[in-house]
This record gives sequence, C-alpha cells and structure tokens, in this order.
Amino acid sequence: MAEPYHVVSVVGARPQFVKLAPVSRALSARDDVRHSIVHTGQHYDASMSDVFFDELRIPQPDVDLEIGSGAHGRQTGRMLEKLETAMTDLVPDAVLSYGDTNSTLAATLAAAKMTIPVAHVEAGLRSFNRAMPEEINRLVADHCSDRLYAPTPAAMAHLEREGLVSRSVRSGDVMFDAVLYNRELAEAKSDFLRGQGLVAGQYGLVTVHRPVNTDKASLGPLVSTLQELAAGEIPLIFPLHPRTRAVLGELRDTGALRIIEPLGYLDMLKAVAAAAVVVTDSGGLQKEAAMLGTPCITLRAETEWTETIDMGANVLVGRSADRLREEVRRVLRGGTGDWSGALREQYGDGDASRLIAADLLGWLGGIKP
Ligand code: UD1
Repeated sequence: MAEPYHVVSVVGARPQFVKLAPVSRALSARDDVRHSIVHTGQHYDASMSDVFFDELRIPQPDVDLEIGSGAHGRQTGRMLEKLETAMTDLVPDAVLSYGDTNSTLAATLAAAKMTIPVAHVEAGLRSFNRAMPEEINRLVADHCSDRLYAPTPAAMAHLEREGLVSRSVRSGDVMFDAVLYNRELAEAKSDFLRGQGLVAGQYGLVTVHRPVNTDKASLGPLVSTLQELAAGEIPLIFPLHPRTRAVLGELRDTGALRIIEPLGYLDMLKAVAAAAVVVTDSGGLQKEAAMLGTPCITLRAETEWTETIDMGANVLVGRSADRLREEVRRVLRGGTGDWSGALREQYGDGDASRLIAADLLGWLGGIKP
C-alpha cells in the first residue's frame, strides 16, 4: 500500500476543539491518512482546553506551541514563527485549519508561505463587519487556502461571489456532527441541571465574551439589564469566559443572575438543550442553540450565521437593552416557532466530517499522487 498522507490539524481556541473532534474521528477511521494535531496554546486554561480534549476524546496534541494570550499581532506573529518550525519537523502533506480565530489565521499563513496545501473547515462565513478580528481571519483563511469546506448554502454563496467556488465544497457543518454525536451522551452524563439545582425550561443561559461587549462601558449596563431580567422574568445562568471575568472583577452572584465557571462541552450541550432561552454574543452558540431547539437572542448587530435568523431560531438585538428585554419577553411568552425541519437543509446530515475526510484525501490524491 502507498504511504499514508500526513495531515496536520492546527487548533488553539475552545470553538476549534469542538470542530476538530468529529474531523479527527473521521480521519482516524481511514487507513490512507496519518493525522497529527498542533495546539497553538491560544486557550490554555484547563476549563478552556483540557476538558474539551477529554470529553470529546480528541487525541492529545502532538505539539503544543504554548503561545498563550497577547495582543492580536503579537499572538499571531508568535504562532507563525513557531508553526514554521513545527511544520518543518512534521512535514505535512496538508494542513487543516478550523473556524476564524487567530490560530486559524496563523495556521493558514504558515502553511501557505511554506507552500503546504491547506484546507479550511468552516469556510465562507461572513459578518461583513471588518471591525471583528474574526472577519479578517476568515477572509485571509479563505483566500489563502487551497480547499474550502463550506458548512451552509449561504457560506457557499459567499465563496462563489468572491471567486472561490472552484476550490470550494459544500460539506455541511462539523458542529452539527458534534451535536448529533454527543447529544445523547450529554443527556446521560451531564449533571448540570442537578448540580445547579435547575429545572429544564425554567432558566436562561447567558454567555458574553466579544470585545465589543466586554469593554467596561458596555459590560456594566449589560450586566444591569441581565440582573433586572433575571429578577423579573427568569433566572439566568452565566458561565464566565476568562476575558469577561477579568473585566467584571469580583462580580458576585445576585441570586437570580448566577455566575459560574466556563462549562465543558457536554454540560454546555445539556445547559443549552434544557434552557428556555439562550442570550449570547458567541458565534457557535447561536448555531448550537438552533440545533438543539432552543431560541437564541444574540447580543450583536450582525451575525455570520444568517440562516439561524431565517429559520426563526435567532434574533439580533445589538447593544440595545430595550430590544433585549422585549425579545426575552417574547420568547418566554411562547413567541417562537419550530425550525427543526430546516436543520438538515442548512447543516447537512451529520456526516460533514466524513465528507471532508473523503474529499481531502481524494483531492490530495489528485495534487500529490
Ligand atoms: C477567541 C477567538 C474567538 C472565539 C473565542 C472563544 C480570536 C480572534 N478570537 O477569542 O473567535 O469566539 O476565542 O472563546 O482568536 N484567557 C484566559 N485563559 C484561556 C484563554 C484566554 O485567561 O485559556 C484570557 C486571556 O486573558 C486573554 C483573553 O482571555 O487575553 C482573551 O483570549 P483570546 O484567545 O485572545 O481571545 P478570545 O476572546 O478567547
């Protein structure tokens, strides 16, 4: 048999571990590929990293670059330098990058500059807001990658508009694979509701970590509105991202607005599935809420996951406290529909990772026989 191709996945931040898990499983199931994992170390706390590798049963990284936090340029630059060394040692036939973080940007640039074929999982997403670091990362990753895997029809249409269609494949969404694969496991294993003394359908879940919402001027008023809603409408559970915790300092529980540590993947699936409403500025969580049948209210002015809005699973309230109050009340009074029929049309059949693995190996066979 021919020597297997060597594919190297580069990840670094929490949402990328979730995307890596099903792709890693799909690659392991094949005998024509050897898969290595490079962790940039962008996220390094146990609650932001280790718990995802453990719960999602991702093999331990072959290389950890231990980059840690820093300003965007410094963080990305340090990754680039160390990735170049790692790639020289690993000699990949192809590099896989995921999503839109600084680790995605560094992985793509490092590979492209070394003329290593590079493929981007979750390509074609656009918020059309270039003030978001993730938007810049997406644009560069898509335009510098050789193979693009689009999760949704809208993502595929963006790639087409940007002249990238000949290298693009509509694969479906690997995060849908992860939700379908882990949903029952979360149901069976997660102790989240009992541990928090919560009843399904009788709480809301909040996450906030984007820079626009976590500067001091925005976060204070947002937390006041959340406290008011938690006291007057429904208890809110608020797992705190380290960035948000750093800004809030010693924010204490106010009873109804409950501050907790970041959740692992299975607890998060359980927490989302059983919530009456999700309030978030995360990208992935908007989608996971839709996939798990929970209405979402997004604390942003625009979203790259526009299909969640079209399905009626998500609304945007930007930074308006009045809009947030109004939408929480609407959702709690039963003002949402059933979008479950649209999920497969948008995100595929839960086999995006298998399709990506098959396409990647077929494509490599064509360019590197
Ligand atoms: C990154 C991604 C974002 C993704 C988010 C998920 C970019 C540009 N952004 O943003 O797209 O939605 O991850 O969480 O890559 N910190 C810790 N411990 C950790 C990780 C971070 O304390 O394990 C703190 C650091 O003080 C750091 C801050 O959190 O300064 C922000 O971390 P960083 O990785 O720069 O960006 P995120 O906001 O997490």
